[in-house]
Amino acid sequence: MKYRSMGKLGIKASAFGLGCMRFNGAPSGDCAADEQKAISLIRRAIDGGVTYLDTAYVYLNKTSEIVLGKALRDGYREKVTIATKMPAEAVKNRADMEALLDEELRKLQTDHIDFYLMHGINREKWEYFKSIGASHFFDDMKKEGKIRYKCFSFHSSYEDFEYIINDWDWDMVQIQYNFMDVDNQAGTKGLQLAGSKGIPVVIMEGLLGGRLANAPDNVQALYDAFPVKRSAVEWAFRWLCDHPEIGVVLSGCNEAEQIDENLRIFDTVEPGIMDEAEKKLMEDVRAAYISRTKISCTGCRYCMPCPNGVNIPGIFSVWNNVSLYNTDPATDWQFRMIREKGSGADQCVGCGACEAACPQHLDIIESLASAWKELNR
Ligand SMILES: NC(=O)c1ccc[n+]([C@@H]2O[C@H](COP(=O)([O-])OP(=O)(O)OC[C@H]3O[C@@H](n4cnc5c(N)ncnc54)[C@H](OP(=O)(O)O)[C@@H]3O)[C@@H](O)[C@H]2O)c1
Repeated sequence: MKYRSMGKLGIKASAFGLGCMRFNGAPSGDCAADEQKAISLIRRAIDGGVTYLDTAYVYLNKTSEIVLGKALRDGYREKVTIATKMPAEAVKNRADMEALLDEELRKLQTDHIDFYLMHGINREKWEYFKSIGASHFFDDMKKEGKIRYKCFSFHSSYEDFEYIINDWDWDMVQIQYNFMDVDNQAGTKGLQLAGSKGIPVVIMEGLLGGRLANAPDNVQALYDAFPVKRSAVEWAFRWLCDHPEIGVVLSGCNEAEQIDENLRIFDTVEPGIMDEAEKKLMEDVRAAYISRTKISCTGCRYCMPCPNGVNIPGIFSVWNNVSLYNTDPATDWQFRMIREKGSGADQCVGCGACEAACPQHLDIIESLASAWKELNR
């Protein structure tokens, strides 16, 4: 296992951090029914050198922290750092925050949390957290020793990221990043901004929730043609670990084989490892994925709300994801929700309000019809 610098914190962490959100294949919802299996996966990772574990109050129907707490008995707690999170939705005032943190400490069977994150924030949630005194609360808990580092995880635009990271003296940030998300969310610009401030970055969705593990034919052909043979997973992690700003790459694993494979990969990768030919390969791979895009909808939502309730950006997102990555649980779920809520393209009456509003000038009506036909095949 390679251990990487955590920027200004002056500590090191394992390059591979175990994400505790997906045990038993659940995207993040259903409870880890097979507790023993989850515990053995966690301990397997730690025995292999993992020192960073990521969970959250809400994961696995609020049971992820419980399972992790049990896994960290018998001397395992002392070997690792724990990251967990506070969801904005669960707290309205200081008393709520105190109660929530105490509940998390109880579940995790520990007296302190190493990395405490405001969960999945954007600018609006950050303003909310500030309005209820969360920044003072985090500072106070740090002084009391209940948390070591004050952090946030992020899912929004680069502009929001820049605002939030410059608005407080954060200790760590967690962003979604992989070779397909260089211009999405915080993106490469956000990663570099954090790096320039010495703030360590933890990566989530490094395999886009598993989508990048199974390359489609045109991408696999590029990997096959490269002189050095590596799996799609190895290429994705290798590309990430090349970036010096990154401290930890999280990966949620469901099987012992995945843990073992990731332990092997993270034993070989470090900043600056990619040569020019490898970088060119990953540029080509990204282009090959993008060439599979069905429609260049950016999800700006200018077309919404549709007067007939059609979830236009949602349908286009599913259409693109199925074409780029084949199916996966998250996309399947998104499509099911669209159908269950009656917001499918079958509700479109062709009024054209969306096309008049679309800054990309997309042929929305025709594309919706094609998407719906293909997705319902
Ligand atoms: N704070 C937030 O807002 C937030 C959001 C998302 C994630 N997270 C955290 O970040 C962690 C990582 O994100 P993620 O789970 O989305 O990570 P990810 O690494 O992008 O995806 C995990 C999936 O990758 C596949 N995988 C992992 N190792 C593999 C291997 N060696 N070979 C083949 N497939 C492999 C598995 O897919 P299969 O299940 O299909 O086998 C696994 O479920 C989460 O567990 C969670 O702790 C936080």
